[in-house]
Amino acid sequence: MTITSGQPVAGQDVTSGEVGLAWLARAARDRAEAGLHREPHVRRAGADAVNLGSNDYLGLSTHPDVIAGAQAAAAQWGGGSTASRLVVGTTAAHVDLENELADFLGFPAALTFSSGYLANVGAVTALAGRGDLIVSDTGSHASLIDGCRLSRARVVVVDRGDHEAVRAALAARTEERALVVTDSVYSIDGEPAPVADLYAAARAHGAVLLVDEAHAVGVRGPGGRGLVAEQGLSGAPDLVVTTVLSKSFGAQGGVVLGPEILRSHLIDCARPFIFDTGLNPAAVGAARAALRVLRAYPALPDRLRDNARHLARACGVDEPAAAVISIIVGDPQRAVDAAAACRDRGVLVGCFRPPSVPPGTSRLRITVRADLDAATLDHVAEVVDAALREVGAR
Ligand SMILES: Cc1ncc(COP(=O)(O)O)c(C=O)c1O
Repeated sequence: MTITSGQPVAGQDVTSGEVGLAWLARAARDRAEAGLHREPHVRRAGADAVNLGSNDYLGLSTHPDVIAGAQAAAAQWGGGSTASRLVVGTTAAHVDLENELADFLGFPAALTFSSGYLANVGAVTALAGRGDLIVSDTGSHASLIDGCRLSRARVVVVDRGDHEAVRAALAARTEERALVVTDSVYSIDGEPAPVADLYAAARAHGAVLLVDEAHAVGVRGPGGRGLVAEQGLSGAPDLVVTTVLSKSFGAQGGVVLGPEILRSHLIDCARPFIFDTGLNPAAVGAARAALRVLRAYPALPDRLRDNARHLARACGVDEPAAAVISIIVGDPQRAVDAAAACRDRGVLVGCFRPPSVPPGTSRLRITVRADLDAATLDHVAEVVDAALREVGAR
């Protein structure tokens, strides 16, 4: 039996010269003309650029304890988890990490995935399917969006943070079950979502709220416990939190938090959990060590936010609510050139272009770190200013 999807190929026009992979060259040209070609920047060992393009908010990826945690876990469990979590890929260290994360973030249970992306795809697709409604907003991270697409649920997209529109979509639904998804701190510009209002809207209409705290854990809330904790919602009913181990924890991986029954549902139903090799042991060890550092130094997130305010003032832009400073340049090529000009001066910054951001809002995205001193931040501000002037954006 042959299984096909999409339109049958019989009768397809093969005279355009664009069969096979030939169309890729035209697509690449189109992207280049629109200033949307991308090239990963290779970091070389020993190069000493100031890195404000990462998501290493607390600087923990290079903390000696975190490196030692990764090394010890690799020495004990090996270079990989060797299998799906459901086969033999679950080590005692995975379970310890999950218990420690649940305890720190104030939820009964946690389940880790091999990336934050997969945690979101896994949670969304396990919680909503055909015949359900998902309400998402225009600020949702790509991994939430892809989860919505894969779920086959009906998806309503509302403006960013528009909780009244969320209420209206939930009230008007014909589906019995509904899921609302949102970033708590939007990844593009670090602005907070109205999490308490969204939770109230979801509760009022018998829906579940899923909040992605990737840019809030380690940044906002008591001791870095995130915006959900800041709003007093940790462990609240019908609330699911996802977050990543790849940002403030300086490791890699993702986690979903909620009641015990959610954990067991995900183990049975979340395809990115079932069909993916378990989180790498080194990442488990690194994340556990990072959590210990964060518990030992609960003022680290305060230091991060002080640094963010300092750098924003020095750059002459609005102070951020979290630790991302977004400087809109507009034209994608100009944003690329500005980021390159920063790099030439020894400062790495992010450069976001469509489709990551809406057309016309290409930008430099500067991620502040807790482990930088005032002199370094002032130097960064001077470099950014010079780069923006060089490309005519200031
Ligand atoms: C809001 C948000 N959620 C999820 C992810 C995915 O996390 P990871 O990079 O760990 O896969 C990211 C990372 O870029 C993010 O910004």
